[in-house]
Amino acid sequence: MRILTGVKPTGNGMHLWNYLGMYKPFLEKVKWQEWFLFLPDFHSLTSVHDPEVMKRNKYRLAAELLALMPEDNRFMIFEQSEMQHINDITWVLSSVTPYSLMLRAHSFKDSQNKNSDINMATFNYPILMAADIIGYDVDMVPVWKDQKQHLEFTRDIAQNFNNTYNTEFFKLPEPYIDENLALIPGLDGRKMSKSYDNFIGIFDDEKTLKKRVMAIVTDDTPLEDPKDPETCNIFALMKFFATDEQLLEIWAKYRAGWYGYGHAKLELLNMLLEYFKPAREKYKKYMADYSLVQRELDAGNKKANQLHSQKYQALKEIVWL
Ligand code: TRP
Repeated sequence: MRILTGVKPTGNGMHLWNYLGMYKPFLEKVKWQEWFLFLPDFHSLTSVHDPEVMKRNKYRLAAELLALMPEDNRFMIFEQSEMQHINDITWVLSSVTPYSLMLRAHSFKDSQNKNSDINMATFNYPILMAADIIGYDVDMVPVWKDQKQHLEFTRDIAQNFNNTYNTEFFKLPEPYIDENLALIPGLDGRKMSKSYDNFIGIFDDEKTLKKRVMAIVTDDTPLEDPKDPETCNIFALMKFFATDEQLLEIWAKYRAGWYGYGHAKLELLNMLLEYFKPAREKYKKYMADYSLVQRELDAGNKKANQLHSQKYQALKEIVWL
């Protein structure tokens, strides 16, 4: 089984929800499978037009992913723009994709609502995404639910091609959308999200991390009073990092009184630092020497290109190019 996910370099930096809510559960479910993870930089180009920002975002995301993912050869990472035939496949798919289907895409309608005019790449975005997926005979695509329609489009586009040429050339991928992803509370207790600015970044420096943790919203129960861990944002976050024993101990401290929210925050900070220590160290190493990241990307690019090019050569025969 082949699994593929594209992670768009947005420059946001990974926060707790991205990892604990999304990658980690996926990783656990797909443990023994081949997993392709790639940076859809052509997709980023639809909205990022500053080369420095583009470069920085890409470097950072690649380093973050490499730092967090298990080191084994079932996992590989590559760059979309390094695929020699990605735009060729996109063009062939565009040639069998009805305009009326594309008009239904939420992604372009949303951008259109924000801008008076959009670029053509934003309009064509879902076709490029289909080429990303079906160009590798992918079986499963783990994505968050905002990508659901794109996956439906991918299947429609593949099916259109197969019908047009009376073939089963393109495999129809299965989306893997987990509707029950753990909700990680943000600093203010709402769902952790970049747009609420209530997130805790995994790779931020210690000072920033501390500032973030200290900003977690609590009630104003006085220090000496017993507190309710079950309604506390700090405790809710601890649940992801502490062992059962640690949690029980902390629970008791909450109930006993004289355990302030400041104490709890420092304890949470230490848990975070401990939990992400290996990943944070790896990230530092990658950011200090980008050739280490490039080496991984080069290896992934080579393997992915081989597969994608093979598919394109076979595709050319079908459409007679
Ligand atoms: N469109 C996805 C997003 O915005 C990124 C993406 C591009 C992708 N190609 C993909 C995701 C292929 C999964 C598979 O997040």
